[in-house]
Amino acid sequence: MTELTSSPDFADHHCHILPGLDDGANELSESIEIAHILTEYGFTEVYCTPHVLKGSYDNHPDRVRKSVNDLEEVFYRSGIGLRIHGGAEYYLDEYLTDLLRDPLTVFDNVILVESPMRIQGDVIKGMLYRLIAGRKLKPMIAHPERHEAMEIDFKMKPGRFKRFLEALGHRDKSANRLSKSDLENCDIADTLPVSLRRMGCMFQGNIGSFAGIYGDKVRRRAANFLECGLYDCLGTDAHHPKELVKFLKQGFGEIERMAGRDMLTHFLSRKKTEKTPAIFESTAGAGSGNAQAGMKAGVVNDPR
Ligand SMILES: [Fe+2]
Repeated sequence: MTELTSSPDFADHHCHILPGLDDGANELSESIEIAHILTEYGFTEVYCTPHVLKGSYDNHPDRVRKSVNDLEEVFYRSGIGLRIHGGAEYYLDEYLTDLLRDPLTVFDNVILVESPMRIQGDVIKGMLYRLIAGRKLKPMIAHPERHEAMEIDFKMKPGRFKRFLEALGHRDKSANRLSKSDLENCDIADTLPVSLRRMGCMFQGNIGSFAGIYGDKVRRRAANFLECGLYDCLGTDAHHPKELVKFLKQGFGEIERMAGRDMLTHFLSRKKTEKTPAIFESTAGAGSGNAQAGMKAGVVNDPR
């Protein structure tokens, strides 16, 4: 990894740094250790995202907000230069909609959502559709590379997938639009990541995935997603300091090797939803199925 010459001002969009709320930091000393490691690697902001899962991690929003305030106070008194924000890693299940009356967003109107590991893509799509229909919330899928259902058949060249995402308004509105026949014939149009993107979902990758901490299959999937341009941002998903210090250096190195320093910085910069349209706004005559022209941003596309 290139030596840092100035403070890169990184933001961690997924971190279990709050003490005693979930399976992350057990106590305050661990939170402080995580904070020191993050600042050492150039992070200046952290979105605190404890698990919220009915029956296992019943973290009420007020409890999370108080924990953030308490930790902020500790950091201030200890001279730790890390700004922290409240958030949550919501588990996608039938109870989640009830929990969103007072949502813990990570930024703007974005909620971080973890989908169950062993579940079919159609079920995930249906649950997410019901979740966001009628709400002004935008789900960001946590570590999609860890999910089998997100697999894409890469017989299609990754470059074409990137172009497809661009056509959905993901990266660059001025990108060449695909033609109607391109969309209809695109053999990845029905893959889960593309369907979710078309519904307006964002994607957060784990830095540890690139270091191989979840195995080779996840590492390869993360590399493919990075090349395709699927990710909106990256995060540590740090639970404990020991694991964090092991994968950060290697993960940063791998991402920089694959995508370059500028992209690493881009993925770790503080996000704003304005930069990623809610859904594609207009395909100007290039529509098929749900991909009809003239749909307004913010309107949810029924994936079924
Ligand atoms: Fe997490």
